[in-house]
This record gives sequence, structure tokens and C-alpha cells, in this order.
Amino acid sequence: MVDSTFILKGDICYCQDSRTLRTIPNGYLVCEAGRSQGAFETLPDSYASLPILDYSGRLILPGLVDLHVHAPQYAFRGLGMDLELLDWLNTHTFPEEARYQDPDYAKGAYARFVSDVRQGPNTRACVFATIHEEATVLLMEFLEKSGLVAMVGKVNMDRNSSADLQEESAEASALATLHWLDRIEGRFSRVTPILTPRFIPSCTDELLDQLHAIQQKRKLPVQSHLSENQGEVEWVRELCPDVSCYGGAYDAFGLFGGKDCPTVMAHCVLCDETEIALMKARQVYVAHCPASNTNLSSGIAPVRRYLDEGIPAGLGSDVAGGTHCSIFRAMADAIKVSKLRWRLVDQSLSPLSAAEAFYLGTAGGGSFFGKVGSFAKGYECDILVVDDSRYGSFGNFSVEDRLERTIYLSEDSDIVHKFVRGMKLF
Ligand code: GUN
Ligand code: FE
Repeated sequence: MVDSTFILKGDICYCQDSRTLRTIPNGYLVCEAGRSQGAFETLPDSYASLPILDYSGRLILPGLVDLHVHAPQYAFRGLGMDLELLDWLNTHTFPEEARYQDPDYAKGAYARFVSDVRQGPNTRACVFATIHEEATVLLMEFLEKSGLVAMVGKVNMDRNSSADLQEESAEASALATLHWLDRIEGRFSRVTPILTPRFIPSCTDELLDQLHAIQQKRKLPVQSHLSENQGEVEWVRELCPDVSCYGGAYDAFGLFGGKDCPTVMAHCVLCDETEIALMKARQVYVAHCPASNTNLSSGIAPVRRYLDEGIPAGLGSDVAGGTHCSIFRAMADAIKVSKLRWRLVDQSLSPLSAAEAFYLGTAGGGSFFGKVGSFAKGYECDILVVDDSRYGSFGNFSVEDRLERTIYLSEDSDIVHKFVRGMKLF
């Protein structure tokens, strides 16, 4: 793979491991066959023969990871933001998602979603589609072609939804999932399937049981929603009186993390001690979605607590609960809401720093995809080249300062080059 072997020269910044930020002004990032060989202050002689792409004066950062986004909701983002979750789902989300039964509608809307994400700073995403097979395959085809890496889920819903957005039975939902999986088997190199029970109120026990069998047989990861909103959590308590917490309703069917079932749960705003202990034991990923949790008045997730507990965590845009796909925005939002939480709710949990938010949006969420989100040796080379000159840098800012300003100020158009697994997208 000659074209994914090169050196990038510029102002490099990444998380070396957990939360340690490493900056190298005027450094060299060596990418061989799509993987990092490390980032250096001076170029080791052994790499002297590789081509150098000179981006001096630009920031070189890892690609960002969106751990939770709904592709079919992109078309109505910014709408219904005065509602809380369950009313917002019924009023806007379910009727819009029902439209994806029509492949022509899906084609137009998904093309726009993928094209916009491609231009922005995200290189990877965990994506919810809808219950519809045809539209989900279209979305996967668009994503594959875009060069982005994504896990995509055909959504499962067999109860409590609208008549036009509900599968007939648990059996029908499971069969449709198997049909979808067989249809895409071996077709993509960058896009892979992820099992996607929407959330407990939309899925019967029988469906979860069948999804567990599919998960075991096909060795698939799982994504869903957890403890997002007060009304939702109370509803789950009524629906599942026998479990110890909301997460227990997934866990009862083996769909809540553990060694053989990598799982990412969006939100985790209202998790109690029992649930946090279970997430820790099962190493369930938290997709923290600060914009969505603000827009839908859900609350503020205790991300500091999750980090301190060693629960794996990343950031999600949760479009269209969130309005923007950029994970730079999610980083800024995560910092801001963590400050409000600290000031107004719980002074024992200190606010997130810019470096910690950057970690969440790169290596934190990236680890759900493997060695992703850092430039440490062996990591896959997802790379952004950012032109931050628009913000008025007059030479007195450190690379770390410039990263912080990028988190708060960047627009998609500031991403001037983007590589995924060492492949240049633009
Ligand atoms: N819970 C179940 N479905 C959804 C959804 O589409 N968005 C959000 N934010 N929460 C959900
Ligand atoms: Fe969501």
C-alpha cells in the first residue's frame, strides 16, 4: 500500500495514552501501510526515503470519533428542541424515520448526511439507521464509498412505536436482521454491522433474546440507549420490574458488554450506583452526548465519574438530539456542561479540561474501533490537517493553546486535509 505510506510534517497533537496530551511543534508523523510508526521531533534516518507531505504551520490531529449518531435524523436537525425525549420521538423522530421505507427518499437524505460528515472532522462513527433494510444498505454503501469507517445498525423495534415504524413481531425483527446481515456479508472493507436494539421501551424480551442469539453466532458489537431521560427511566422500571437497573434489562439478555459483546450505550445521564457498577464490570462504553442532553433537557451525564471509575467513554453527536455532527463541537459542549454540573450540581466532580475532552473525542471513543484515535506507534492513521490561521494566531500560541481554540472555534471548512487508515480523502 504505497499510497498509505508517507510522512506528515506539521504541528502534531494527540493523546499518547489515556489522558496525556503530547504536542510536537514542527514534528514528523510517520505512516506506514496506514499505521503510525510514531511521531517525532526529528525524523529518524530509517524513514529518510519516505515521501514528506509538508503541512508546516498547520495542526495535525487524529480524526474524531462520533460514538453515537442517527443518520436518518440529519434531515430534521434543529427541530422540536422544546420537547423532552419521549414527546420528541413521537412527534418528530418516528414520523421522519418512517419515511426511510422509501429508498428514493433515503437515497437523497443519506447522500447529504454522508457528504457533510465526510467534509467535517469525524473519521469514524457508530451509526443508527432505521428498521428498513433497503435504506440501511444504501447508507452503508454511501459510507463505504466515502472512505469513512463506520459501524452501522439496522434498528430493531417491535413495540411501543408508531404503526408505520414498528416491526411486526420479535420473530420478524430478528429475521429481518439476519436477512440484512446475510445481504451485506463480505461486501464492505470499512463499514461493518452493529446490532441496534433501539432502547428497552422499543424492544420486547423475546426480541432481545433473539438478538442475543444473533450476537453470539455472528460475534457482533451492540449499540443502544441507556438512562437518558427521567420519563424514559421510569417507563423502563414499569416495563421491567424485575431487573436491578435499566442496564440490567439489556444484561438479562447478554447484551450489555463483557468480553464477547463490545457494547456502547448512549447518554448514561441518570445511571445509579448499581448501573455504574455493572457498566464498570462489563466495560460498557459510554457515548456522552452533551448537546442532545441539553437540547432535550435530559440532564448532564457525570463523565468525570465514568473516567475516574475506568469506564470506557467517548463522545456522540446524537444528531438530531444534537444539531451538529462535528465532534469538536461535542468536545466544547462536554466541557461547558461539565462546568455547569460542577458549579450547580456536584462540586466533587471537577469539570473536564480541553485535553480530557479531546481524549474522549479521539482515543477514548476510538478504542471502540481498536487502535484508533492516537498517533502512538501501531495506531491506525486517521489524520486531520487543520488550518487554524482564521482564528488569528500571531505566533504566540503553543500547539496545546491552538488545539483548545480549534475545539471552540473550528468550522468544517478548517479541515483542509483528511486521511482515514492512511488513505487521503481530500
Ligand atoms: N432513545 C430512543 N431512541 C432515541 C433517539 O432516536 N434519540 C435519542 N436521543 N434517544 C433515543
Ligand atoms: Fe440517540
